[in-house]
Amino acid sequence: MRDYLLPGEGYRVLFVIGKGGVGKTTTSASIAVALAERGYKTLIVSLDPAHNLGDVFMTKLDDKPKKLADNLYASELDMEKLIKRYLKHLEENLKHTYRYLTVINLEKYFEVLSYSPGIEEYATLEAIRDILMEGNKWDVIIFDTPPTGLTLRVLALPRISLIWTDKLIEIRRKILEKRAAIANIQGPQRFRIGEEEVELPIEEDKDEVMKELRKYRSEVQFVEGVITNPKKTSVVAVMNPEALPLYETLRAAEALKKFKVPFRLIVVNKVLNVSGEIPELKVKLDAQRRVLEQIEGEFQEVDVIKIPMFPEEPRGLDWLKRLGGMIVES
Ligand SMILES: Nc1ncnc2c1ncn2[C@@H]1O[C@H](COP(=O)(O)OP(=O)(O)O)[C@@H](O)[C@H]1O
Ligand SMILES: [Mg+2]
Repeated sequence: MRDYLLPGEGYRVLFVIGKGGVGKTTTSASIAVALAERGYKTLIVSLDPAHNLGDVFMTKLDDKPKKLADNLYASELDMEKLIKRYLKHLEENLKHTYRYLTVINLEKYFEVLSYSPGIEEYATLEAIRDILMEGNKWDVIIFDTPPTGLTLRVLALPRISLIWTDKLIEIRRKILEKRAAIANIQGPQRFRIGEEEVELPIEEDKDEVMKELRKYRSEVQFVEGVITNPKKTSVVAVMNPEALPLYETLRAAEALKKFKVPFRLIVVNKVLNVSGEIPELKVKLDAQRRVLEQIEGEFQEVDVIKIPMFPEEPRGLDWLKRLGGMIVES
């Protein structure tokens, strides 16, 4: 068995990435079925707003894990709902932290934020974090992800967020130092919120803003710790034996390396095995041969498996079991 697909240090997290239509959902569902069959309690979650996990399992799914077989649970997250929830959470945090800033019309601000670039990535990261926080309920958690670009940005986010959070913590610390200097000369500073009189905090663990920054930092640190741990996380890239998916996989490999997210397996899916000469397929088969050669050369440290193009769509538990066996057994 391929050990990087199995629990290592506690639960195993698998991210199955790739372009739309290459077979991400089919591959992740197959791995899930095969691992569940081998006794690992497995959760598969679709993060792709264009869900088709339910189609592949031939059943209806929603955002609660549904038991499909022994040890096998599946869900499809509702990204719209998650974005709304994420913004609500932000709004409440801000209102609490900046109680005295009632002059700002927060509702208007959040209406605009929901269309802001990056929101989908943050909401997706939050969803991943929620699941990882309860990761010990499972042996294996498989994420069937949105097309590559968005997924890579999500996996890069913890790193980036840590950098800017540290910067903000530093700035906040300076503000608190200035406040302390003023309080030293003029005594504690007070202000009113309605009826309430509040003293401006000068200590870090009494300051709501600092507490919020620290809390956020530790949340992000947790996700970063999981997704960069090779004993916990493996990325599986799915591609078809064509030039463009190959370039995309190469770019993904580079990005994952930069963010230290372990990239372990390439599934080359829908490989055409044709006996005899078919003139209409000659160009395609030549291209496929070149791409397969290139893959062998380019990815020395990554496992590569080839899965043939089947004469029918691999759907339903029996098909997935067969296909999953080909992937998890080395
Ligand atoms: N090896 C294969 N042989 C034949 N059809 C396949 C194979 N893998 C996937 N498919 C079909 O290709 C389509 C896209 O696969 P899917 O897993 O939904 O891709 P993605 O999730 O990457 O968009 C589906 O109709 C699926 O049944
Ligand atoms: Mg899919």
